[in-house]
This record gives sequence, C-alpha cells and structure tokens, in this order.
Amino acid sequence: MFETITSAPADAILGLTDAFKEDLNPNKINLGVGVYKDGGGQTPVLATVKEAEQRLLCSEATKSYLPIDGLAEYGRLSQQLVFGREHPILREGRAATVQTPGGTGALRVAADFVRRIIPQATVWLSDPTWPNHPNVFGSAALEARSYPYFEAPTNRVAFDPMMAALETIPKGDVLLLHGCCHNPTGADLSPQQWQAVASVCANRGILPLLDFAYQGFGDGLDEDATGVRIVADHCRELLVATSYSKNFGLYNERVGALTLVADSAEAAEAANSHMKICVRTNYSNPPAHGGQIVAEILGDHELRSRWEKELAEMRNRINDMRHLFVETLDERGTGRDFSFIARQRGMFSYSGLTPAQVQALRERHSVYVVGSGRINVAGMTEANMDYLCEAIADVLK
Ligand code: LMR
Repeated sequence: MFETITSAPADAILGLTDAFKEDLNPNKINLGVGVYKDGGGQTPVLATVKEAEQRLLCSEATKSYLPIDGLAEYGRLSQQLVFGREHPILREGRAATVQTPGGTGALRVAADFVRRIIPQATVWLSDPTWPNHPNVFGSAALEARSYPYFEAPTNRVAFDPMMAALETIPKGDVLLLHGCCHNPTGADLSPQQWQAVASVCANRGILPLLDFAYQGFGDGLDEDATGVRIVADHCRELLVATSYSKNFGLYNERVGALTLVADSAEAAEAANSHMKICVRTNYSNPPAHGGQIVAEILGDHELRSRWEKELAEMRNRINDMRHLFVETLDERGTGRDFSFIARQRGMFSYSGLTPAQVQALRERHSVYVVGSGRINVAGMTEANMDYLCEAIADVLK
C-alpha cells in the first residue's frame, strides 16, 4: 500500500531547520523558525525554568496521569495571565481551560471542538497567516477561508479591506485573530482597531478564536493582552489558544492551553466536557512536566517576578535588534526604507523579499528565511548583523 506514495512537501518552517542543520557554511544564519536566540546566539533554558525544575525534582511524588484537561492550577493561572487576575470572566466562572501540548495542540483541540459543536462553521484566517493554520483546520475537516490583513506597499494592517471582509462573515463562523505579535507580519491592530473588530464579532455572532502565542514578546504581558481583553469585553463567547513555547522558552516541552469563555458558568462546564472528548480521542491527557514548570513559576511570587524580568530581557533584545537591523541595512545603502521593521512587534517581520531573493539568500549566503519573506528578528545578534545585512544588500542589488 505504501509503494505508490509520493513525498509530501517539507514543512514551510520546520523543514528549513532541517536544511539549515545540513549546511556546512560556518557563517550560516537561521532566521526561519520562531525560536529566540540570546546575544550569544544560544536558545538558553531560562534560569527560573531551571529553578522550577529543581523544585519539581525534589517534590514530585508520582508520574501518574494528569486529568484529561490537565492541572487545574495551571488552567487557573493561564486564565489569569490572559485576562488579568481580577477579570469578571474569572469571578463568574465563565472560562474553562484545557492544558494542551503547545499552542499547536491548543489550536487542534479548538478545531476539533468547533467541528464537533458547529460543524458547518468556516474558519477565517488572516492573509497572510502562520502557514500551519490552514493545515490544522483542514486536518479537522473544517473549511478555511481568508480575510485581507496586510498591505504590502505600506507594511501596515490593511484595516479597511479587513473590516469590509469581516462585515460579510456569516453568523456562527469562526474568526481567527493573532492576539499580538502577528505571525508572520509583525503588524498588529491598534486598540481602536481591536474595538472595531470585536464589535463586528459581537454584532454578527462570529466566534473569535485568538491565537495567543507571543504574550510578553511585544510590549509587555498586560499590554500584549489588550486585544484579547477588548474582545472578551465585547463578546460573551470566545476561544484563546495560549502557547508557553516562546515566553517561557519551553519549546520542546510542548506547553499550551485552550481557554473557552462561555456565556455562563454552566455553559462553560458543558462546553468543557466536549473539549475533554476532543483531548481524550487525540492524546488522552497532557504531558505533565512543562505545565508543572509554568504553574510553579506563575504561582510563586518571587519566581514569577524573576521570570517577568527574563521575559523583559528577551523582549528588549528583540526590539534592540529591530533598530540595529534597520540602521545596519541603511548603512549598506540598499536604497529601500526598512524603518517599518522597527515599528513592528514580536519575533517576526515581513521583509518584502521576493521568493527568488529568499532563495538567493539561502544559496549564496546560507541565510535561511521563510519563503514568504518572513524573518525571525529574534534570531539576529550583534555578531551576525553585518553578515546578514551584507547578504540582504547583495540579493537586493
Ligand atoms: C513559527 O512560526 O516559526 C513558530 O510558531 C514555530 C512553528 O511551530 O512554526
């Protein structure tokens, strides 16, 4: 049966990492996958994560299964991080959270849940979006369509076309929004724009699904939650997919959460019973280690404030790299205005490089960038900046 199978294409992002590993050029730079590098080019384990792990090593008494929806404390702390500690949604018990293997796991549970509860729903994705989004929803047998999001000539959100498209979305469909640090463009909605989008969702009966993978990587933990909280103020029902890969550096532990907000505590509980079926039939129950680390840090005042400092360091370094990148490119006299990159937020920016230029970067300079021209700013360092900008200037010639 397997004789006739032809190979599937490599993953648009993780496939690049495989190619990068095989590249023998000592100057090679990987600006593909969204992984943070420190000033020395490493992706370190955060000191607070190490400390939480040490505590767990001493205190962990069993490796027995977690509940299907994961650690209750982890769910509670995740809700507080998303909405803020005193949010009425939490007081009213209108949120239910399942612990998931990463943000991708959260999206897949969300997709299966939507398919189970509103099977006719179409999921609306921003154009452009994370290349795995259509695959995740497609795998759950949901229809995915896109709405305009980015205006390439100005490198800004295409807000009017976006709103015009949202006004056509039928009641009962799902609108996927990037909570902050839009992947791949780095261009986010302003608070006023979030208000307008949230009103359309509320008025038309559209279910917002917020992909919230970069909280704390833009302007701060609360600042980055502005959009999600505006949506929660307008809409009685929503879904939030959280990832702790980036803000805790827990990439390979696969730590995420899907939070559902319902109109009442009873409805949240009933909906949660269906999310649990989606989990049980998929991976049964979540792995414990990463979730325990996050719960240990978020639940301990001292550890949490040290983690917030580590997070601020990562965020500040990325924002410094944005400025240095713009300045260094400017010095190379590329003849292009890249100043928009300093205005954008999160790990990524759309560079505007064409697929041919992306290919030339890789072939001539061993610089790896996603085919769409998305660059991971968090992979830049002071040490690789000159080589990188020289290479970009060369392919732009
Ligand atoms: C990315 O977009 O590079 C990250 O979210 C990692 C991934 O899984 O693709």
